[in-house]
Amino acid sequence: MNHFKRTTVTSALPYANGPVHIGHLAGVYIPADIYVRYLRLKGEEVLFIGGSDEHGVPITIKAKKEGVTPQDIVDRYHGIIKKSFEEFGISFDIYSRTTSKTHRELAAKFFKTIYDKGGFLEKTSEQYFDVSAQQFLADRYITGKCPICGNENAYGDQCEACGTSLNPTDLINPKSAISGSAPVLRETKHWYLPLDQHEAWLRKWILEEHKEWKPNVYGQCKSWLDLGLQPRAVSRDLDWGIPVPIEDAEGKVLYVWFDAPIGYISNTKELLPNDWEKWWKDPETRLLHFIGKDNIVFHCIVFPAILKAEGSYILPDNVPANEFLNLEGDKISTSRNWAVWLHEYLEDFPGKQDILRYVLTANAPETKDNDFTWKDFQARNNNELVAIFGNFINRALVLTQKYFDGKVPIQRNLTNYDQQTIEEFVNVKYEVEKYLDNFRFRDAQKEAMNLARIGNKYLADTEPWKLAKTDMNRVETILNLSLQIAANLAIAFEPFLPFTSAKLRKMLNMNEFNWKDLGSIQLLNAGVKLEISELLFEKIEDEVITNQIQKLLDTKKANKASAFQAHPVKSNVSFDEFMKMDIRVGSVLECQKVPKADKLLQFRIADGLVDRTIISGIAQYYPHPEELIGTQVCFIANFEARKLRGIMSEGMILSAEDADGRLILIQPKAQVTNGVEVK
Ligand code: 2FM
Ligand code: ZN
Repeated sequence: MNHFKRTTVTSALPYANGPVHIGHLAGVYIPADIYVRYLRLKGEEVLFIGGSDEHGVPITIKAKKEGVTPQDIVDRYHGIIKKSFEEFGISFDIYSRTTSKTHRELAAKFFKTIYDKGGFLEKTSEQYFDVSAQQFLADRYITGKCPICGNENAYGDQCEACGTSLNPTDLINPKSAISGSAPVLRETKHWYLPLDQHEAWLRKWILEEHKEWKPNVYGQCKSWLDLGLQPRAVSRDLDWGIPVPIEDAEGKVLYVWFDAPIGYISNTKELLPNDWEKWWKDPETRLLHFIGKDNIVFHCIVFPAILKAEGSYILPDNVPANEFLNLEGDKISTSRNWAVWLHEYLEDFPGKQDILRYVLTANAPETKDNDFTWKDFQARNNNELVAIFGNFINRALVLTQKYFDGKVPIQRNLTNYDQQTIEEFVNVKYEVEKYLDNFRFRDAQKEAMNLARIGNKYLADTEPWKLAKTDMNRVETILNLSLQIAANLAIAFEPFLPFTSAKLRKMLNMNEFNWKDLGSIQLLNAGVKLEISELLFEKIEDEVITNQIQKLLDTKKANKASAFQAHPVKSNVSFDEFMKMDIRVGSVLECQKVPKADKLLQFRIADGLVDRTIISGIAQYYPHPEELIGTQVCFIANFEARKLRGIMSEGMILSAEDADGRLILIQPKAQVTNGVEVK
């Protein structure tokens, strides 16, 4: 297929300032893992590199907030992230970190090599400086009023209220996030990668020589290139990071996006101290970067320019970046805790990693943003994994147990129908390969699932349970072929569902397996004893899903409550004005929904006089209105009567509106006499 000898696969190094969630898995790590497992099964030479990105300003901000050191933060999250990846079967050859010694040395060497070659511009510019803290402020450390929308808490690089990209000097009344004081502009020196000087070869290399890149990747590169590239600073004034390795650079560190991608190389070096270079310098090595869409410019333009400036490295052959995964219709957000965290998923669904892998691949945001919903998770498990895959395996094994004491029966003469079935699943192999080779993992998995469909259809059409009375020879062949299909499933699904594949291989007593055997009907030898153990998949009940949805609703509610800002107090009223308002207590005699009005409840209130009817817009918060009968409510007795849906409403019932918009009736805590006043 290609002229390469080996493949280096990298996956974006996640920032070690929080745990990883389903968006990370779906966008980057599962696709990379599927691809790598596939190449390994084909017996290709491949290396899968991962690690944590441990520098950058957000880590220092988090550390400050918690009163700990940045090192404490990255130690904590590197451990959590690494564990999550292991648990989900992301099969890195190494998962290291950018605070390692190997990395610090290699990143510094990179800088020095480029510097010595004259590959950087040195430039002095004015940047904000916090006099009381005696330090320059990174863009994120400066807040102020957004010149576009007036948001008072815009950051120096972006206003999160209106989304505008900003420069710190755009902010009105800038403030230092460290001391709260107004920063001053002061001159500072930095080193810049002159991307403008790299533009010509980048244009040719991407726009002409890599037209095969995914349209989302190619398109984003094209718009960057068409805008014209500018020099980019590769250093920062910060006390967390890799010191700029030249003289007169005190207080300066490498910009996180300079050192992070070099982390791929350092981690390779850490794994293979004597043999790493061929994975990065040999033109017969194919380099692939798996990333999310927010990383495209860094991997397709900035990092290649760094590699080129250094001079001895290969460039990526492809960068199969994905779009974003949303959660129940909303953007995943760490700060709003709107995410399914991997460590939490495993607490709620122990041992069910493959279900999430399956669903995230089925919904992978390959060409556009996509949505994860718990209902879809349940449906895909119940209707696909259980009903198609699990059901087929279970039937094949149970029938073998029943008729052949759990031993693989012999394969006798094949009928035309058998041949036809075999052809179908040989075809599946080619389809899966075609999609995998083009980084189309959703389609590849869908195709692999067809093997199970073929198996189910084969059993349903041949009905071995009926033939068992008359033609045991035929039953032998049917079950032999069914078990061969099961063995094919174990191979085809190894890249997608590694845990399930391992279980299935154990059941089928398959020791050796590789990709080239896919499509074979001689994978299991007659007479081999099968190990029927557990079901591969279990149905997920509604209640489990309702609980997960409730968890998200609670998060939403908590977010709303924490974002709640009490309204400013209205202008004063005099005692006399207050006394004009006639607020009373009455008992609910009747209460029901107003027909054809979703929001309205009709109350009959005993008010100590003649009773009255009041309509109130609280129906959605009181789904069982009959339960209010007998309780007491407060109402404005002299509120002008008005007609609502043809019913005369004589007053207004009082409720408190909670931060999330929910209305809650105001009710006296102890029983009082109907008609008394509220003062
Ligand atoms: O966006 C991110 O999470 C970055 N930490 C990705 C870095 S990828 C590579 F360059 F290390
Ligand atoms: Zn704004």
